Amino acid sequence: MILQSAFTFYMRQEARCKSWIRLILLLLLLFTGLCYKYFFWTGMCSGLVENYVAAMVLSAAGDALGYNNNKWEFCRDGQKIHNELAKLGGIENLDVESRRVSDDTVMHIATAEALVEAGSDIEPTKLYPLLAKKYKECMKDMDGRAPGQCCMTSALSLKPGSPNGWKLPFQSNAGGCGAAMRAMCIGLRFPGPKQLPDLIRVSIDSGKMTHHHPTGYLGSLAAALFTSYAINRKPPHEWGRGLLDLLPKAKAFVVESGHDVEANLESWPYFENQWKAYLKKRGILDGKSPPTFPEKYDVEERDQFYKDISYSGWGGSSGHDAPMIAYDAILGAGENWTELTHRAFFHGGDSDSTAAIAGAWWGAMYGFKGVSPVNYKMLEYRERLERLGRDLYQLV
Ligand SMILES: *[C@@H]1O[C@H](CO)[C@@H](O)[C@H](O)[C@H]1NC(C)=O
Ligand SMILES: [Mg+2]
Repeated sequence: MILQSAFTFYMRQEARCKSWIRLILLLLLLFTGLCYKYFFWTGMCSGLVENYVAAMVLSAAGDALGYNNNKWEFCRDGQKIHNELAKLGGIENLDVESRRVSDDTVMHIATAEALVEAGSDIEPTKLYPLLAKKYKECMKDMDGRAPGQCCMTSALSLKPGSPNGWKLPFQSNAGGCGAAMRAMCIGLRFPGPKQLPDLIRVSIDSGKMTHHHPTGYLGSLAAALFTSYAINRKPPHEWGRGLLDLLPKAKAFVVESGHDVEANLESWPYFENQWKAYLKKRGILDGKSPPTFPEKYDVEERDQFYKDISYSGWGGSSGHDAPMIAYDAILGAGENWTELTHRAFFHGGDSDSTAAIAGAWWGAMYGFKGVSPVNYKMLEYRERLERLGRDLYQLV
């Protein structure tokens, strides 16, 4: 009706008037197109590039701050760390400039560089030798960065140049957090539901390159999966259930690989049982309820809890509890960066790894919002990390 009368109106006008109307219509069309594009981008993926960059940068910042040049990673007394932090002016004033990144970041960069170099070809024949090569090479950059024993010996055994040279046998003592601490960027590379099979495959297979033990490589899966949740802004209290629901698929993948299957299945239950128990404790096993925390849950209580959920008494040093402590901090901190750092960066456990993981999830969700610039501005390898964030975003 309206269109028809508009058309009759238009046909009645003189030629000069007609061209004016055409011009106005054209401008109107252009304008709405621009608006549409603008709203589409801000609505659908608000600041997504920045979130990719922040995930890479804040992970490394967390690592450097939690590591504090070897002084805090291995300090078993969280209260002592918090006292020293307060003397330095708190996290708001903690300058990252004099603090180098540790093994966690060097290996995270290695993973990200392999993903970027592989580009769209993510087949095992292309991506896996690249990953193995990067893991091997990055060991040359470990001076003063306290690399883990398992990562070092495994990386030395990798043979990127020969077929299947990335495949190492099952290791009964490879349940450490070395595979988890470097896997966050895998979630940035495979954020979509359709890419979930790739996320499972790449996180497990890259994890196995140094940690061929379910507790080790499932930590890699958890770190990658939760990063993909974070970049999609899935509410954190739903993440844990998502991980549990994915474990049967992960197990099927490990069985299908046909590689030391029996040994893998024998050691499988620990990771799953620990996670089930944790989620139950926080009241989020159903993936719906909000988390519950003890009434008093300060530095000392957290140190005790991190110890309780650990494998050997050092909270966050294993594949199951490094992502678990990071997750606990994300759940408890909400959108408060200070609180996040208190819980995930500064404690009596393996604090640089839990910090590296929590920092990535925070950045993926919130970008740099609320983060004191001194915490990341003069970060070692910052440009490298920013570029990797942008390159990973381009690949998605
Ligand atoms: C953030 O957490 C810190 C440390 O617990 C607290 O002192 C501060 O009040 C919190 N800020 C907000 C806005 O809640
Ligand atoms: Mg470290």
